[in-house]
Amino acid sequence: MNPRTLLIVDDEKNTREGLRAALEDRYDVYLAEDAKTATELLERESFDVLLTDFRLPNEDGMKLIARAKSLPKPPICILMTAYGSEELAVEAMKRGADDYIAKGRLQIEELEMRIARALRQTNLEAENVALRQQLDTKFAVKNVIGESAAMREVTEIVQQVAPSSATVLLLGESGTGKELIAKAIHQLSPRAKAPLVTVHCAALAPTLLESELFGHEKGAFTGAHERRIGRFEQAQGGTLFLDEIGEIDAYLQIKLLRFLGERTFERVGSNRTVSADVRLIAATNKHLEELVKAGKFREDLFFRLRVVEIMLPSLRERTGDVPLLAQAFLKEFATENRKPVKDFTVDAMELLMNYAWPGNVRELRTAMEHAVVLCRGERITARDLPPSVRAATAAAADPGRALLKNDLTVKEAEKQLIIRALKDTNGNRTLAAKKIGMSRRTFHRKLHTYHLEGF
Ligand SMILES: Nc1ncnc2c1ncn2[C@@H]1O[C@H](COP(=O)(O)OP(=O)(O)OP(=O)(O)O)[C@@H](O)[C@H]1O
Ligand SMILES: [Mg+2]
Repeated sequence: MNPRTLLIVDDEKNTREGLRAALEDRYDVYLAEDAKTATELLERESFDVLLTDFRLPNEDGMKLIARAKSLPKPPICILMTAYGSEELAVEAMKRGADDYIAKGRLQIEELEMRIARALRQTNLEAENVALRQQLDTKFAVKNVIGESAAMREVTEIVQQVAPSSATVLLLGESGTGKELIAKAIHQLSPRAKAPLVTVHCAALAPTLLESELFGHEKGAFTGAHERRIGRFEQAQGGTLFLDEIGEIDAYLQIKLLRFLGERTFERVGSNRTVSADVRLIAATNKHLEELVKAGKFREDLFFRLRVVEIMLPSLRERTGDVPLLAQAFLKEFATENRKPVKDFTVDAMELLMNYAWPGNVRELRTAMEHAVVLCRGERITARDLPPSVRAATAAAADPGRALLKNDLTVKEAEKQLIIRALKDTNGNRTLAAKKIGMSRRTFHRKLHTYHLEGF
């Protein structure tokens, strides 16, 4: 481990030099004779320990400590006071000092012991923070349900990119979990304690959106009575989530592009440049690439946004996750509605598996709320599901509409459809299942039900 860095601030040369001589074999020692020099050093270097006299020429040591403690990586601060000024020492501790020591009877061993003790304590605190962060990490990813390969891939990328400040572009159909993933990335990042600010770009007219994002000065436009801080500034140190990014107009695209390049912008009606340390996450359910081709979205901005691109799979592409999600939402709504609902009948689950879920996870969640509210027993039956979902088998059998016209039952029609699919694919079950949009598992079960195994 590198030697710890120690900054000693005292206006008396003898004290400074004396302390340096006593401590320099253990620490990397820096000296300052007043608060101003100390502040400059603190801003330039990162120190482990600040040891300062209370009485300094212009500004006292207490103020210096308060400033040091507001740094991103604050040092351990020990105040040296004149012998007997206990009250002052107590005040210093209140204001952020980690310890104090009476100067009159300054013993080097005692000083060293105090420094070591304070260092140990902050190490423990750092460990606690790390542990807490690990817990948060588990929690943030736990909210994202999905065991399918496609979802695992997503959560893996999320864990990889979260610690950095890289811009992330989230793509995927409506309801696939883009906002959920944006939250997870923020929670898993070192910015988790700073705010996550969300702006739905489609919800506001372009001019309003500009001042919403970048803020405005008083009198910038009619109705701007007060100066207003924009979302970028609100997200200082944290994350800004721009939802529906495909909707922003050409002018804002430029302003955003500049922010991504320089991390600066101007408030509306001001020419003062403001800088913000903000990580950007953008999302859209539009085909951005097509918008680029159509000249509606700047290509350079597109490239800047997709430093990391995460494509959320539709629920159709991961039907394997349906039971897991359905069960989780069932539990959520059963608790919320205080109902004893526990699981699904086979028929109900089959419908859930066969349905195409155009509204993805959001639609599944709403369907589960509907079902739980209607459910009269402990299991959700087909009857409890919304009509669109109940029509799922009919939809799967849609290509066999001609058969239905002949007054066949749904089951008969389904059987005929399966036979035809098998014929069309020369008996290749995987292809046949795919052809009629059935999962392979369901397909195999149906073969059994309709006694078609030997086909
Ligand atoms: N993998 C998942 N696990 C658990 N819940 C999920 C998952 N994906 C989505 N959800 C839930 O589904 C709902 C819709 O998700 P979200 O709002 O993140 O979708 P979106 O992609 O932002 O949709 P839109 O494009 O319409 O804004 C939310 O209630 C969310 O919590
Ligand atoms: Mg969304």
